[in-house]
Amino acid sequence: MLHHRKISRIVALSLSVSIFALQAQAFETSTPPEPPPLPAQGKITYVARDSILEFKALPSYSEPDWMADKFEKAGKLPPLKDRLPEEPLVYKTGNMPDGVGVYGDTMRHVIGGRPEGWNYIAGQSQGWGGIDIALSECLTRTAPLFQVDAKDTEPLPNLAKSWDWSTDGHKLTMHLVKGAKWSDGVPFTADDVIFYWEDAVIDPNVSPLGGGASPEAFGEGTTLRKVDDYTVEWTFKAAFPKQYLYTMAYPNFCPGPAHMLKPKHPKYSKNTYEQFRNAFPPEYMNMPVMGAWVPVAYRPDDIIVLRRNPYYWKVDEKGQQLPYLDEIQYKLSTWADRDVQAVAGSGDFSNLEQPENFVASLKRAAEPNAPARLAFGPRLIGYNLLMNFSANGWGTPDEREQAVRELNRNLEFRQAVTSAIDRKAVGDSLVKGPFTAIYPGGLSSGTSFYDRQSTVYYPYDLEAAKATLKKLGLVDTDNDGFVNFPKGTAGGKDVEIVLLVNNGYATDKSLAEGLVGQMAKLGLRVVINALDSNQRDAAHYSGRFDWAVRRNSTELSSVVQNTEQLAPVGPRTSWNHRAPEGKELDILPFEQQMADLVKRFIASQDNAERADLMKQYQKLYTQNLYTVGLTEYPGALIINKRFSNIPPGTPIYMFNWAEDAIMRERVWVAAGKQGKYELFPQQLPGKPGDPGPTK
Ligand code: GLA
Repeated sequence: MLHHRKISRIVALSLSVSIFALQAQAFETSTPPEPPPLPAQGKITYVARDSILEFKALPSYSEPDWMADKFEKAGKLPPLKDRLPEEPLVYKTGNMPDGVGVYGDTMRHVIGGRPEGWNYIAGQSQGWGGIDIALSECLTRTAPLFQVDAKDTEPLPNLAKSWDWSTDGHKLTMHLVKGAKWSDGVPFTADDVIFYWEDAVIDPNVSPLGGGASPEAFGEGTTLRKVDDYTVEWTFKAAFPKQYLYTMAYPNFCPGPAHMLKPKHPKYSKNTYEQFRNAFPPEYMNMPVMGAWVPVAYRPDDIIVLRRNPYYWKVDEKGQQLPYLDEIQYKLSTWADRDVQAVAGSGDFSNLEQPENFVASLKRAAEPNAPARLAFGPRLIGYNLLMNFSANGWGTPDEREQAVRELNRNLEFRQAVTSAIDRKAVGDSLVKGPFTAIYPGGLSSGTSFYDRQSTVYYPYDLEAAKATLKKLGLVDTDNDGFVNFPKGTAGGKDVEIVLLVNNGYATDKSLAEGLVGQMAKLGLRVVINALDSNQRDAAHYSGRFDWAVRRNSTELSSVVQNTEQLAPVGPRTSWNHRAPEGKELDILPFEQQMADLVKRFIASQDNAERADLMKQYQKLYTQNLYTVGLTEYPGALIINKRFSNIPPGTPIYMFNWAEDAIMRERVWVAAGKQGKYELFPQQLPGKPGDPGPTK
């Protein structure tokens, strides 16, 4: 019996090999090897979408006593009920893992990034690690959907409290939370939404943080207009494109305060776009936000402190204004230090995502007196090698760079590169054990849309890879171990490829160094260009790279979030192939097929059809090597044990990062467990531009 099963498995395997081999010709392909079983994962309790929150007026509201005493009664703040919307967002107690909470304490984050400033909608980074997520609120919200059954769901309401589709499905009317206010007390209205759309998304000179909020991300020809102060109306070319509700979540539709930003925007001022982008530098404090905490203090390379937003528009069922935590800190350190501090208890939170730190962190977390809990999730952290496919000018390439672009666009070249990567060795160089898996690229094996049978894997075959380079006319003419461009191309010099890398992560650097070594064996000279995160992103978004090592974003880990980034469906949606300003995209035939599948996926309401479209997509992607997969592995959430309301099994990454998925505004610390970490106890944000908080 066993024997029989084995034979049929071999037959099945060789059958799939030969089918793929026919199509791929020189290279033999197969499905990727079965990944090792995962380390124990946290168990998620799945819930219905509407069990998480609702919008309604409650009989009474309350806030921390010190706020009522020192601020409201002293006339420094309007009465709470006037600060809250008519119908606040109410988190239902039934969905809270530990129930309604109490006020106080701090969450101490540690990050490796650094703030560029507070103009999020003009693409300024605040240093990542969820700091921008704490400040920004978006029309819809998706991060908590990890606990909702994937089949029949859609994004949660947020700044858009509800929406209705027209009968023909081309119009979507969104109702904004009425009476919600920015943290300085100015009303949030449709004008903020329209300013964001017209002067950030549509304005080609402005790219909001995350790099994905281009107009095409909401569908070609989509328009948005104000109906009244609390109503906006979308018009789409397609009928019922519900997929765009995901694009309206983080990071693509989180409006900024128009009352602050509009006067600085070039359309309404004498400013240049650069001046607009930099109008609110990191030193500028108390920038108005819709999020639960407001930045009140900043010391370079040291710390950013955020205090509770007195106008926050979310409450619990008892009517307690959220957040429960009075303060959030961001220590400015390194990403590796985030893991170290979280397990040691001097920090409170980490997405354990760098395999180099897995073993030490696991050991410490297993000790009985460990201050933090650590739980692994699915294999959703993945890395790809991106090759720049633009041959018509994105990033204004010089002669060598242009020659590399032409190679990048050649399937046989990509096949040679992928076959020269020993993925087992790549994974083991990060961490030994059951963590990393062989990842050919494409959708993460941890998503519900993943299908191993539709995944084409080019096994390690250095000889075939070398033979292919030779066939392409890439030969080592000067005997230095590296192949040269053919005579007449880029001066016949060595094929030198510059690899863009984020120098803030050990993992990115190890992967890049591993690639340099493996490519040297193939005869390709790869040179690392390691930049800090902000510079790296700037180089990436402007197309100034030959190759790039990149940690996957949500389109590959969730499929439904950032879906338009799965293929070049527009001039600026792909991560490795964008059009230069004012030019068409020089799309490759297989990319066109991928883009068509993605558009059909976006337009389809039929789950079976969507699953099938993603199988076809995965096959095209991995067979044609749209990007070259490097490795994938699970991440673990590390969080201090004193926090309550952390949903069990929260993945560090799926629709968004865990900082969003745990819903920090409803996280609390029991009175007896509260630490004395607050730097500005009993203080609130000051007026925009004030140097610090107010007492
Ligand atoms: C960085 C970190 C992630 C996560 C995100 C949040 O990218 O590496 O773990 O914290 O920031 O934006």
